[in-house]
Amino acid sequence: MSNYKISKLQVTNFRNLNPDIISFSNGINCILGENGNGKTNILEAINVLATKKSFRKNTSFPQFLSIDGGKPEIIFSSVFHNQNDDKISYTSKMTTDSILWFLDGAPVKKKLDIKIVFINPFDSYGFHNSASDRREWIDYFLGQLDSNYKKNLSKYTQALRFRNTLLSKKPSKFKEQIMASDGELSLLSMYLTARRVEFLKEIEPYIADTFQKIFSEKHKLEIKLDSRIINLSAVSVQKIFLNNLETDCERGHTSYGPHKDDYVLLFDGLNSFDFCSLGQQKMSYLSLLFAYIELFRYKYMSYPIVLIDDVSGELDQHRWRRLVEYLEKREFQVLITTANEKFKEELDRISGANKILIKNGSVIH
Ligand SMILES: Nc1ncnc2c1ncn2[C@@H]1O[C@H](COP(=O)(O)OP(=O)(O)O)[C@@H](O)[C@H]1O
Ligand SMILES: [Mg+2]
Repeated sequence: MSNYKISKLQVTNFRNLNPDIISFSNGINCILGENGNGKTNILEAINVLATKKSFRKNTSFPQFLSIDGGKPEIIFSSVFHNQNDDKISYTSKMTTDSILWFLDGAPVKKKLDIKIVFINPFDSYGFHNSASDRREWIDYFLGQLDSNYKKNLSKYTQALRFRNTLLSKKPSKFKEQIMASDGELSLLSMYLTARRVEFLKEIEPYIADTFQKIFSEKHKLEIKLDSRIINLSAVSVQKIFLNNLETDCERGHTSYGPHKDDYVLLFDGLNSFDFCSLGQQKMSYLSLLFAYIELFRYKYMSYPIVLIDDVSGELDQHRWRRLVEYLEKREFQVLITTANEKFKEELDRISGANKILIKNGSVIH
């Protein structure tokens, strides 16, 4: 596992950012500036560079492209380095229909395997309010931790898409074919479910621990998978697909499978969505993310790059301080933004932090 950190970034035609070279330190980087100046855009540029697979099916390109850009092409130029301090120049060029990567100037087919944890304030809300957000969350982070899970998930998604295509046509004509391919779908469903359960078991001890470390309060936090196929045999899982087949034919899609499973976050035994204040929801969500980072570290002896977009809302000053103290003790690279003057004061206490001031899309030193 290569433990990448970012040392430089320069973007051309990305949102409101000017093509300034932005330098980052290995520890904590505070990105400061008033609202609407481009702080979040910097984090997003790094996130796009690290995670974007393809733009073909994605409508984001027009949103990413600077409205003042001359050419419809976004260029991300960056320098990353690993634990041995080997420097790698990494460039990505994006147009409406293609995305190319260059390592040290030479074109490469595969993108660099940069691990990122992007923490933004809206995600806590989404996580607590939407089942599909929770599924996406687990799928993304578990996939980042375990490439086998990622592979099997994409196989499952493909098989599901194929099944749904048949269901949306004349299902009676394809029933045999659907039933035949449900064998593979069942096996994949079993694998995904078992891996999810295992992941939740792995991360659980870290959640309460990070909560206590960051917010100095003892709370029991658990996350559970709500699934109908936990511990079922392949035959039983296949039976579920078979039993649903009539309904699926009527609806034209697969009504049940791991793509419909959900997660419940329990805060002292109570569903956090129903019982927690927004602040508590945010603290639970942050604890979950930092627990993931600790688990990642336990597994790979390295850290992902942590991007934190203004998390000051809903948390009181005492908690900001704890969070900042927590970050200060970590060894991972952090890029944290804020427009909040009070939170900035907390960040200012960090000795040796790199400060990046952004105004109108430019870096001001
Ligand atoms: N495609 C685009 N082209 C040019 N500017 C954009 C584009 N998309 C967003 N912006 C501008 O980016 C700014 C928001 O940047 P953002 O990084 O969210 O600010 P903040 O510093 O508050 O985090 C706004 O001024 C917005 O108008
Ligand atoms: Mg912002």
